[in-house]
Amino acid sequence: MNYVKITRYRKKSPLKTKICIISDIHFSPKESSKRFNKVLKSIKKESPGYILIPGDIIDSADAVDDEKEFYRVLDWFKELSQLAKVFISRGNHDMYRRPNDDNDKRRWLLDYNELFWDKLRKISNIFVLENSGYSDERVYVFGVDLPPEYYNFEQVSFGKSTIFHPVRENKSELLHTLEKSSLDTEKSKINFFLCHSPIYMTDPDILKKLDGFDYIVSGHMHNGIVPPILNELWRGTRGILSPTRELFPLNSRRGNIDKGGKLVISGAVTTFAACAGKKRIFRGLFPIYMTVIEL
Ligand SMILES: [Fe+2]
Repeated sequence: MNYVKITRYRKKSPLKTKICIISDIHFSPKESSKRFNKVLKSIKKESPGYILIPGDIIDSADAVDDEKEFYRVLDWFKELSQLAKVFISRGNHDMYRRPNDDNDKRRWLLDYNELFWDKLRKISNIFVLENSGYSDERVYVFGVDLPPEYYNFEQVSFGKSTIFHPVRENKSELLHTLEKSSLDTEKSKINFFLCHSPIYMTDPDILKKLDGFDYIVSGHMHNGIVPPILNELWRGTRGILSPTRELFPLNSRRGNIDKGGKLVISGAVTTFAACAGKKRIFRGLFPIYMTVIEL
């Protein structure tokens, strides 16, 4: 299918610009460039002022080991950076490596592939925000880099999550990360907070800390793998399944921006990527999701 499905929100603002949000790109050698070129084309058509990417750029750290793949991804980002300023926060897939050993596939290793991220950081107009912020004359963007402990990396990396025992994300690690960060916002600007996971982004304890932000932008949930037609008909934010195999999880789709809230949850560019294994046969059912906020 691979068409681009745009969810559009219009908000009153003196900014007069467009924000394009794409998430969970999951680059891997298994994905052809066709999908990614469609994303570029759609963003170009919108001619946004800013592009926000809340994580899971690559499917796993090993996805860019091959030199050809390494430069395919970087060249894509170079093209993207020519359309607008690009802000990136990292996701859980950006820090995992799959072992080479076929017998050991379920065990994941912690690896950020720093060579790749270093090159990405050096592209002009690309801003990788690791518990840090960036401001220009119109916006302030802060990106949170959640640690492996937040995702309960140990359990996930040994394939221990099932629908009967989903792995919970760790709220206290999130609070701890936020406490260490400087979350001052700038009143004269529109303030964006990028966080890969939206799970706790409606939690009162967390929202208290993010009071100054106008928008919270997340991905991670892959729209709760709700198929497109059901996605339109089924109200609310619940999905079918979370990435850690929780059934009917809240905060999986849309967020509450259409109800006057500040949370935007973007669907994935690649809903079932290489790491999804056999489930990848369903990937044709899902469009490429993009969210546009017109301010
Ligand atoms: Fe993802």
